[in-house]
Parts: sequence; structure tokens; C-alpha cells
Amino acid sequence: MARSLSLIYGLLSLALAEPGWPSTSFQTGEWQPPCLSLNKTGDTDPGYLFIGVRKYKQGGNAPTIFDNNGNMVWQGPHGENMDFKVQKLFGRDVITYWDAQPDIRVLGYGSTHVLDTSYQEIFTVTLNDDFRTASGKIFDSYIDGHEHYITPQNTMLVSAVNFTQTNTSHLRRGRPDMWVIDSLFYEIDIKTNQILFKWDALEHIPISKTRLDLKGGKNLTDAWDAYHINSVTPTRYGYLVNFRHIFSAFYINKNGSVRWELSGDSENGGDFESHNVKFEWQHDIRVYNESDESLVLSLMNNDAMENQDKGPSRGLVVYVDLVNKKAWRTHELTDPTDIVVSATQGSLQFLPYTETEHMLLGYGSIPKLKEYDADGNVVLRGQFGNNPFEANAYRIFKFPWRAHPHWDPVLVVNQTTEYTTDAYMSWNGATEYDNWAILSAPSKTSLLQEEKVLLVHERTGFETHVQLDNVNAKFIFAVAREGEKILAKSPIVEYSACFIPRGQKSLRGFEKDEWDYI
Ligand SMILES: *[C@@H]1O[C@H](CO)[C@@H](O)[C@H](O)[C@H]1NC(C)=O
Ligand SMILES: *[C@@H]1O[C@H](CO)[C@@H](O)[C@H](O)[C@H]1NC(C)=O
Ligand SMILES: *[C@@H]1O[C@H](CO)[C@@H](O)[C@H](O)[C@H]1NC(C)=O
Ligand SMILES: *[C@@H]1O[C@H](CO)[C@@H](O)[C@H](O)[C@H]1NC(C)=O
Ligand SMILES: *[C@@H]1O[C@H](CO)[C@@H](O)[C@H](O)[C@H]1NC(C)=O
Ligand SMILES: *[C@@H]1O[C@H](CO)[C@@H](O)[C@H](O)[C@H]1NC(C)=O
Ligand SMILES: *[C@@H]1O[C@H](CO)[C@@H](O)[C@H](O)[C@H]1NC(C)=O
Repeated sequence: MARSLSLIYGLLSLALAEPGWPSTSFQTGEWQPPCLSLNKTGDTDPGYLFIGVRKYKQGGNAPTIFDNNGNMVWQGPHGENMDFKVQKLFGRDVITYWDAQPDIRVLGYGSTHVLDTSYQEIFTVTLNDDFRTASGKIFDSYIDGHEHYITPQNTMLVSAVNFTQTNTSHLRRGRPDMWVIDSLFYEIDIKTNQILFKWDALEHIPISKTRLDLKGGKNLTDAWDAYHINSVTPTRYGYLVNFRHIFSAFYINKNGSVRWELSGDSENGGDFESHNVKFEWQHDIRVYNESDESLVLSLMNNDAMENQDKGPSRGLVVYVDLVNKKAWRTHELTDPTDIVVSATQGSLQFLPYTETEHMLLGYGSIPKLKEYDADGNVVLRGQFGNNPFEANAYRIFKFPWRAHPHWDPVLVVNQTTEYTTDAYMSWNGATEYDNWAILSAPSKTSLLQEEKVLLVHERTGFETHVQLDNVNAKFIFAVAREGEKILAKSPIVEYSACFIPRGQKSLRGFEKDEWDYI
């Protein structure tokens, strides 16, 4: 009931609020996530949506988990964040995201946070090397927001950028001392932050492969972004790295050399013959089913760039025959009823439920997501902003997630009439509870004696609202329960509405006994 209500509220406020995408607000905390509008058009996979909301107004810019009905489940710390997802570390599920200090010419310089299923930060991964920044500022850690990927060896792959000079005289409009943004990636030991591997594009890939017009580069702040790394994946013999400004993925050997290049424009480059594998300005290239003979790649083909190409942006799955050096498209994910042109960012995730083989597309700068089934039909459309300047998300994922937060639930009461009080309860991040009980406590500090259950109510979304009428208790607290099992207790709050002694008529005309404890 309350779920459908919140959906109606969502749609109503969508219709009313122009301009500006509406947010949801709560009584129990300062969270203000953007409303997530979800329309199902088929069977969707289970799981929660992980959206690292960016560019949204204060109160909403944060790594955020939503359920399949669009209810917020968890909101993390506010601020610039990217690449929020579930990963496996030492065999357990963790959530990870990147955050950063801002700087000019880049998304910021940051670190990545690894949280366990109670949202305790168990590792903070940082990167230190002799980086040069456009502003000249020094940072605590230099991880770039485009990638942080936990490998099966429990190390982390991260991207980085460096401002440096190189000789581009061999290119049209080039110069011997041109300033460029170099793309790097590192493999880092998660426990010690020790650098295990470092790789640098300028050293291994001819800068002439870039597809970005050569311009600027006269000074540091005007450096030319020739490569633009945005994903790195571990592979059997090394790594697969993607450069948005070269329309190619490169397989990097463990000794750093390039093993092969798959180009999105094979007539002009790369090591594979292909006719229908075309991509430009792409994101999020991942590897599946790698063997010595073949592998499968998935990616978000933006096919768009600010003020340049105009999409439509679409998902692409490519089969790569390593023996015969051929590549062909196996899936192209498009939605003709709602064409999206995403000029920056984006993701394609094979949902981690192998039987259905659903895929989730995050549309990057356009605040939309779509789930496709194995045949390429859209089964879910989602939206959380009107335009790229109002909200976006670098990548969007769907994962199963079970969490028991290390903090307590929150109970807030507000007396509305002499005899009634509104009570609101939430437990940020908790996934397993399905109902609340409100209990009376004998004193402000004691939970031990005379606890009485005053009311039980099913969980309704992120925050559950109940009305307490004529309750004989001075102190109350709420417990989050799974069935009858208590998972956590809120602090005790003082409850102020009056209690009407037995036999006396309340304002509503009910006898007290009709409202007895349950
Ligand atoms: C970044 O570039 C500078 C030159 O501008 C160079 O001295 C430095 O070693 C580079 N840093 C890394 C991490 O490669
Ligand atoms: C820069 O490259 C050009 C052309 O490749 C070469 O002739 C020139 O000597 C190089 N300049 C420097 C300073 O290395
Ligand atoms: C760097 O070059 C750009 C483009 O030529 C120019 O607008 C800018 O003022 C220059 N900055 C400095 C610090 O010289
Ligand atoms: C790097 O490794 C690849 C693949 O193992 C090998 O073919 C190549 O010769 C190696 N290059 C160097 C410089 O050792
Ligand atoms: C990987 O191989 C399995 C078994 O052949 C297949 O079912 C699955 O679709 C493949 N995955 C991808 C991403 O192609
Ligand atoms: C969902 O459907 C409603 C009603 O047709 C529409 O206004 C809204 O834009 C749709 N939202 C998405 C994310 O497709
Ligand atoms: C408390 O209830 C009153 C009366 O209904 C309402 O005006 C007020 O906004 C409520 N306060 C909060 C914090 O919800």
C-alpha cells in the first residue's frame, strides 16, 4: 500500500516540479535522494540498484542503493563520488566507491572506500606516486574516479592521470614540448596500499592513435587528453584497458607490452577483422569467458561526445575469435522508443544471475538506466533526473545485497494532537528487516524491564510512518524485526502524547481498551 503510495507521490511530484527533478525527504534523517522513477515492462532480475548519484542537489549527491520499487535503501556520505558497486573481497561481498578532492581538468584526486556488510570501512585504498597536477596542488591520494576493480587475487586495479610533456611534432599541429594528460593504471595491494604494478599509456601506445582532435597543450592547464582511460579489467595474461579517446580496447601483457588491440573502427586499426563491431567514445569494457581461443567483451558504446557525435548510445557485446583474429557483434542493446544520447560516462553490466543473462545499461551523463533481457528487449526503464546537469551517474549496477548496519535504527516522534503522535522509523542500509515493533520502556535508559509491545507494523520502504493513538507509555523505542526476530533497537525516546485513563472517552470517542496493546 505505502509502496504504491510513494510511487504515486513520485509521479505526482514529477508532474508538478518543473524545473528540477524532485527528491524524496524523510523525517528520520537528512537524506534527500532524487526520486527514482521505475517502469517495468517485463520480468526483471532481483537485486538492488547501485547508483552513485552525481551533480544532484545537496542531500542527494551520494552513493545510493535503491530497491526494485525505487525506494531508497542506503545513502552513503555526500560528495563527489563514482563507481559505486558490490565487489568480492576475500570471498565476501563488500561495497566500494571512490570519492575525491576536486581539482581543475580532472574529476578529482581520491581514494576508494571498501565497506563490509555492516557499512564499516574495512579498507581505504590510496595511491601515491610522483604525480603532476594541472593546479600544482598536492593531494593525499591520486586515484582517478574512472576505475577501481577488485581482482580475484584481492588486489585493486585503479586508473590515474598525469600531466606531462611529450614530443608530438610528428602530428599535424603537434609540438616538441606538448603538454598532455597521460593515462595510467596501477594494481595495488588492498591491505598495505603497496603498488604491485604500474602501467603508462604514453610509454606503450603511440599517441598518434588518438581520435581526439589535437588542440591546446601549450601549457599545463591546457594539456591535451589524448588517451582518456576509463576501465581496466584483469585477464588471464594481464589486463584489458579501455581508452575512450582511442576507439579501442588494449590487451596488456603482465610485462606491460600490448598483446592486441580491438578497435571500434577496424578499417583504421586494431588486430581483428570485423564488419559489425563499431564503437566510439566507449565506456566500461569487460571480459567474459576468456580462453586461449576466444573471449567475449561487453561495453557501453556512447557513440557520442560533447558537441560532436550524436549516438544513439547503446550496449554492445562482442565475440572475439583470437585464433582467426575475427570479432563480431552478438548483441546490440537499443531502445527505439526512447533513444538516449549519452555524451559522457556509462556502463553495461551482465547481471550476476547467469540463467537470465539480463544486462543493465547505465546511460552515464543522462540520468537513466535500462534493463534488457537476453533477447535485447527492455524490461525496465529508470530515470532519476531531467538532464545531465541536474543528475547523472558514472556507472549503474544491480546486485544482490544483504546488510546489517553497525548503527542503530532511528525513531522520531512528533505529537500531532493531544492524544496522537506520529512515529517515523528508518534504518539506513538495512536489507533484512520486514517489520517494526514499537515498545514501551520503563525509563529513559532501561530496556530491561517491562518492555511492552505497543504496535507492530510492516516495513514500508525506507521510512515507515505509524500513528500512535492514546498510548500509555512515557518512553518508547522501536525494534527492526525479521518476522519476530529482533535485528536492532533504536535509542529510547520520550513520548509525550497524553494517555487517557481506562473508561474515559478519548477525543475520537474510543475506549482505551479498544486500543489495547497487541
Ligand atoms: C608525471 O609526469 C611528470 C612530468 O611532468 C613526471 O616527472 C612524473 O614521473 C610522472 N608521474 C608518474 C606517476 O608517472
Ligand atoms: C620531436 O620529434 C621530431 C619528429 O619526430 C624530431 O624531429 C625532433 O627531433 C623531436 N624533438 C625533440 C626535442 O626530441
Ligand atoms: C594556457 O593556455 C590556454 C590556451 O592557450 C590559455 O587560455 C591560458 O590562459 C593559458 N594558461 C596559462 C597559465 O598560461
Ligand atoms: C612480454 O610478454 C609477452 C607475452 O608473454 C611476450 O610475447 C613478449 O615477448 C614479452 N616482452 C618482453 C619485452 O619481454
Ligand atoms: C559464457 O559461456 C557460457 C557457457 O557457454 C554461456 O552460457 C554464457 O552466455 C557466456 N557468457 C557470455 C557473457 O557470453
Ligand atoms: C514511466 O511511465 C510514466 C507514465 O507513462 C512516464 O511519465 C515516465 O516518464 C516513465 N518513466 C520512465 C523512467 O520511463
Ligand atoms: C509535527 O506535527 C505537526 C502537526 O501535524 C506538523 O505541523 C509538523 O510539521 C510536524 N513536524 C515534523 C518535524 O514532522
